[in-house]
Amino acid sequence: MDEHTPVLAGEALAGLALEADGYYVDATFGRGGHTALLLQALGREGRVLALDRDPQAIAAGRRRFADEMRLTLVHASFADLATLVPANAQQRPCRGVLFDLGVSSPQLDDAQRGFSFRADGPLDMRMDPTHGEPVAAWLARAGVDEIRQVIATFGEERFARRVAQAIVAARRVSALSRTSELAVVVASAVRTREPGKHPATRTFQALRMFINDELGQLGRGLAGALQVLAPGGRLVVISFHSLEDRAVKRFMQGESQVDPVLNRLPVIPPSARPRLKLIGRKLRPGEAEVARNPRSRSALLRVAERLP
Ligand SMILES: C[S@@+](CC[C@H](N)C(=O)[O-])C[C@H]1O[C@@H](n2cnc3c(N)ncnc32)[C@H](O)[C@@H]1O
Repeated sequence: MDEHTPVLAGEALAGLALEADGYYVDATFGRGGHTALLLQALGREGRVLALDRDPQAIAAGRRRFADEMRLTLVHASFADLATLVPANAQQRPCRGVLFDLGVSSPQLDDAQRGFSFRADGPLDMRMDPTHGEPVAAWLARAGVDEIRQVIATFGEERFARRVAQAIVAARRVSALSRTSELAVVVASAVRTREPGKHPATRTFQALRMFINDELGQLGRGLAGALQVLAPGGRLVVISFHSLEDRAVKRFMQGESQVDPVLNRLPVIPPSARPRLKLIGRKLRPGEAEVARNPRSRSALLRVAERLP
């Protein structure tokens, strides 16, 4: 229950183009799968700053890496990278930032975290239970339209309106406070069944992305990474959701081009020059990895390099 298999591990390390004594940031520590590989590949002078907004991830990391002096673990959101890196790096140039987005296996597998429609638990879904409100509190007060919009946007659920109406009807009878209660209500409203998919999959994913402001955090995290990366430093992002990947793609492409309006100027001002160079094409796990680790099936990896 306390393990997470790192996804696209070889590809992520290759994307970071490691220098043995470099300073690297693992923005999504999880259970330290990628961090462990980074530390293995780095030399004595190499350093890793690892962040996670989940206090349980950081506590598990402190136990696992108690003797590792090259690692600094911080309970924080990657949205604050722009301040966290200067505060921790002791002026060392940052050679790479890795994001492995979404939730970890221990978060999904621990029913008490409230992410799972398969196991009953409190309807929470916060990655950082010390901040914000559990999804149950939001579902108790949101209007049908708000709920519909969240489920349609983040879950791409065809039956979003029916699901939202069913939630509001159910909460009139009694508050929805357990994952199993929500899963039953959602299943009753979703008309068709996608093969191999629980009918509540899309709704649970949407609510999780919403309550954790995952896309907002991603936008701030990417901007922060760009700010802290040294020239030649690598940005590696693994995403699991089409909206996440779209945001990453747009960010990387946007930062790797000159603004089309300024492009017509005889001299491009330094502030308008591209700040990133795209490296390679997007990568997906191969069949063997998906067979070994089915949770990797929707992963997509993109790499860019910070330009001077
Ligand atoms: C897919 S897991 C990472 C797994 C990790 N790479 C490993 O191999 O063990 C994603 C992790 O990112 C964390 N996370 C998600 N959003 C975050 C944010 N905005 N700031 C910091 N950590 C975040 C989650 O709490 C979760 O532990």
